[in-house]
Amino acid sequence: MSVRILGIESSCDETAAAVVADGREILSSVVASQIDVHRKYGGVVPELASREHLRQIVPVVREALEQAKMRLADVDAIGVTQGPGLVGALLVGITYGKTLAEALKKPLVPVNHLEGHVHAVFLEAHKSGREPKLPAVCLIVSGGHTVLYEVRGTGTQPRLAVPQVPEMLQYRKIGQTRDDAAGEAYDKVAKLLGLGYPGGPILDRLAVATNGVPAPVKFGSIKTRGNPYDFSFSGLKTAVLYHVREHPEYSGEIRSREEALERGERKYEHLLPLCSAQTLALVREFQNAVVRDLVDRTLAAAEELSAESILVSGGVAANSQLRATFEERARSKSLDVFFPSRALSTDNAAMIAAAAYFRFRAGQFADTSLDADPSLKLA
Ligand code: KG4
Ligand code: ZN
Repeated sequence: MSVRILGIESSCDETAAAVVADGREILSSVVASQIDVHRKYGGVVPELASREHLRQIVPVVREALEQAKMRLADVDAIGVTQGPGLVGALLVGITYGKTLAEALKKPLVPVNHLEGHVHAVFLEAHKSGREPKLPAVCLIVSGGHTVLYEVRGTGTQPRLAVPQVPEMLQYRKIGQTRDDAAGEAYDKVAKLLGLGYPGGPILDRLAVATNGVPAPVKFGSIKTRGNPYDFSFSGLKTAVLYHVREHPEYSGEIRSREEALERGERKYEHLLPLCSAQTLALVREFQNAVVRDLVDRTLAAAEELSAESILVSGGVAANSQLRATFEERARSKSLDVFFPSRALSTDNAAMIAAAAYFRFRAGQFADTSLDADPSLKLA
């Protein structure tokens, strides 16, 4: 009999529920995004996020169970994100998870959201019959996080039904951003260029919309003193800002794009014709700088630690150029690189249910005193 865990995720602006069997088989995964609620503020508004989670949590869980063709009573345990994230948002999922666990008399498993992102990679690999070899270096890169971990197996517990997956993964933090997360830099640059929110998906496409046009400014490699595996993206965002301020020729097109956004015309097809070649080349140069930095530091860490594979997860892992560059550079070093699908890259609950399974097997349960931990550490 497989162990079926209901995962609940509400740490930021996605209300999500999923059912995963034995930590690897996704039976259902439902995500209610709040992007439309937060868009006009250009970022996530914590108060609105909590309110939306309250509206969405019950129907989202119900939908996840329906899609998995299960009743609540069929669930073996409930996995819920404990942190990191927005405290009010986390509390909605935790309170609901606790209530369900109490009412159903099923174990409640607290999950670190970042460990969820690591498991998103394993979920995807499993779908295609692959299994990342350990030790691995994992880059989690999203709107809230840019962090590098070394991932090892404990190797101390008996192997489970899933071959080659150690019962519990162990983490060591190698580096992290000292200021903005990479996704945050995408969002801020998109905002200042009048390209809407969230910034990642649109900049991703615009960056490849021009070829051969020289960049209006060059961004060198990003310097960080001390730990070579730490990141910093706020300087790059500021460099874009200064460049735009110093060149008044951008202001007309920025205004026309902002007007388009107000009319609800925010798609690539709407915004591309409103971008000059200079703007497209600027976006390309920005993306080149971000991608180069993420890939360089991750590969250097993988080499130093003699990692067998590279795992990349989080919203920015959906970026086409990041994926292509990792594939190409890792291949030249005979390293395997693993990404989740786009749907599993951004926040979801399947990754939470997957991470919960291994903690469930280890008996790591919480009781009704479980509280949200907005700055919960993975390592
Ligand atoms: O993981 P996620 O859904 O939520 C957080 O935990 O932050 O990531 C959202 C972030 C946003 O900053 C968004 O702009 C970025 O991921 N993002 C991308 C792409 N798709 C989403 N960044 C670059 N390229 C993309 N294709
Ligand atoms: Zn996340």
